[in-house]
Amino acid sequence: MEYPRYTITSALPYANGPLHIGHLAGAYLPGDLYVRYLRMRGREVVYVCGSDEHGAAITLRAKKEGSSPRTIVDYYHALIKDTFERFGIEFDIYHRTSAKLHHETSQEFFTALNDAGEFVLKESEQYYDEEYDQFLADRYIKGTCPVCSYESAYGDQCENCGSSLSPTELIKPLSTLSGKTPVLRSTKHWYLPLDKYQPWLQEWLETKKGSWKNHVYGQCSSWLKDGLLPRSMTRDLDWGVDVPLPDAEGKKLYVWLDAPIGYISATKQWAEDNGKDWEKYWKKQENEADNSRLIHFIGKDNIVFHCIIFPSILNARGEYLVPDNVPANEFLNLEGDKMSTSRNYAVWLHEYLDEFPGQEDVLRYVLCSIMPENKDADFSWKDFQARNNNELLAIFGNLVNRVVVLTQKYYNGIVPAPEGEVNQTAIDELHATMLSHIAKCEENLENFRFRDALAEFMNVARAGNKYLTEEEPWKKWKANPEAVPAVMFTATQIVAKLAILSKIFLPHTAQKIFDLLQIDGEALTWDQLSDKVHVPAGHQIFNEGKAKHLFSRIEDAVVEAQLEKLATAQKPNPNAKPSKPEIEFDDFQKMDIRVGTILEASPVPKSDKLLQFKVDTGVDIRTVVSGVSEHFAPEDLVGTQVQVLINLKPRKIRGVVSQGMILYAEDTNGKLHRVSPAIEIENGSEVN
Ligand code: 2FM
Ligand code: ZN
Repeated sequence: MEYPRYTITSALPYANGPLHIGHLAGAYLPGDLYVRYLRMRGREVVYVCGSDEHGAAITLRAKKEGSSPRTIVDYYHALIKDTFERFGIEFDIYHRTSAKLHHETSQEFFTALNDAGEFVLKESEQYYDEEYDQFLADRYIKGTCPVCSYESAYGDQCENCGSSLSPTELIKPLSTLSGKTPVLRSTKHWYLPLDKYQPWLQEWLETKKGSWKNHVYGQCSSWLKDGLLPRSMTRDLDWGVDVPLPDAEGKKLYVWLDAPIGYISATKQWAEDNGKDWEKYWKKQENEADNSRLIHFIGKDNIVFHCIIFPSILNARGEYLVPDNVPANEFLNLEGDKMSTSRNYAVWLHEYLDEFPGQEDVLRYVLCSIMPENKDADFSWKDFQARNNNELLAIFGNLVNRVVVLTQKYYNGIVPAPEGEVNQTAIDELHATMLSHIAKCEENLENFRFRDALAEFMNVARAGNKYLTEEEPWKKWKANPEAVPAVMFTATQIVAKLAILSKIFLPHTAQKIFDLLQIDGEALTWDQLSDKVHVPAGHQIFNEGKAKHLFSRIEDAVVEAQLEKLATAQKPNPNAKPSKPEIEFDDFQKMDIRVGTILEASPVPKSDKLLQFKVDTGVDIRTVVSGVSEHFAPEDLVGTQVQVLINLKPRKIRGVVSQGMILYAEDTNGKLHRVSPAIEIENGSEVN
């Protein structure tokens, strides 16, 4: 079915950390492939994405690093945007939810729903961290999952069994801020009555049976089977979009309310920048046939938000379109294990880009070949190597290289006319084979089967390789040169066809081939794939020296280095000293450790190891002696903050009374390092 317009979104990544291969394979590569295909078909499309800059994931990271949410999101927004660009993920706009336009757009949504009486205002008891003066929702609270007994389930979801939770369901809840048991306090929030929307959702989802992926439809059905409950759309937080009501001070919109609206605000910004009408991409048109086709590319952990909550909101607004399809992907594992940010067990995209320069398309290719479309998949470095060496290099790269090199050698790089002795049957068969692979590729792309589409693309390369191998122009050149022009002409057309197809799967490679063929590939369309001639006889291809290979061999050592990196990421440091015997909490509590600033530092007379310091501990200004002159020059430490054990019994050392002890970290080589707070904090702050 043809649609007049397409509104394509990929999940807005949280701007709280770098992206890994699971992200790329899950929500971005499939979106990019689909959009590249649509654009090549000349369809009207907008592809939007941006950074999700609100939510507990961001504020928690900021707290952990002693930084601010603004610093965190600015840093990761830039890193993520750059990563996408380098991988050729071509959004029409990469926006951000901290933008003013986004705040306004999501507030407008909230206000419209509120004015229409869609929210239910409820006062309830919620967990509160008295030490941090904060209510604990979502990731601010952890506890044991009531469903699977996993001990680190979050207040919104158990990452082990996937159950959606509310904080009060957690067994033995603990604040992720203070680590303490929270208390209950009363607070009011605006709830979306999902129970009220259930009948509509049910009816709507029924229309998706058969056209949506089974696992997506299945997850939605099971949510509905369990029965939907009202869900709070506001939070007691200090970072996010303000609830636009006079009696809602200190309240922000729930991040899962504002984030998907981010797709709309991104479209608005894009429309403003490009003289377009954003409403055509998001609102129902007078005639149903004029409606845009809305498609969300996401990972499976986002299904409920995109298939239940956001559609309910869009539907409640009345004039908005709801998604036509949500082809969510499942998860990608790494070497048989779950990827983990906290264990640093992942293949980080920005690191890949630095370690494999010019090989962006190799990762695109491998991730597309193993894309977790209908079940979890596994990335392994050995498989990555094999796909590069045995497929990209041996089949695709080899074909292109042979055609360019032989055309240079035999014809000074001028495409010969298909004259002389022509094996027309072989040419016709080859063309028919290619058209059949291209048709299957198209059918697969239309239906979000990117693995199969890629396989058909490679089948085109295989057919080309087979043709060249069977025709053996290098043998004919000696025995029967009359037969060579038609073969080389035909082979050049195959290379061009592959370059056109590569615009979808391997865009960097496509450009390299167009450069070799010296043709402008930009405007070439999908329909032109069925043409017999892409490069005319007499055309000059690249002939200024040796053509660079499209792909290079990945050696075992490279794979081993990557595996080693993963092994160290997973294992504890083998050189670390073993733990000391267990102590009681009271033993620890006896120590009074404070943050202080070193005001002065000087060597202790007649000692080559000792330095004496004047330290402002917040409690007082005192003298402390440390045996650290091998590790620090006195001036290195003056003005820095350190941790000081202040209730250690004073001791006279080389005639100087040391009133306490400065704490240092000793690495496994015996070198000492300062242990300062991540940002400057007030002296006298307790370390506990
Ligand atoms: O899971 C995530 O990474 C979310 N930041 C995705 C948001 S998608 C959309 F709703 F914005
Ligand atoms: Zn669980």
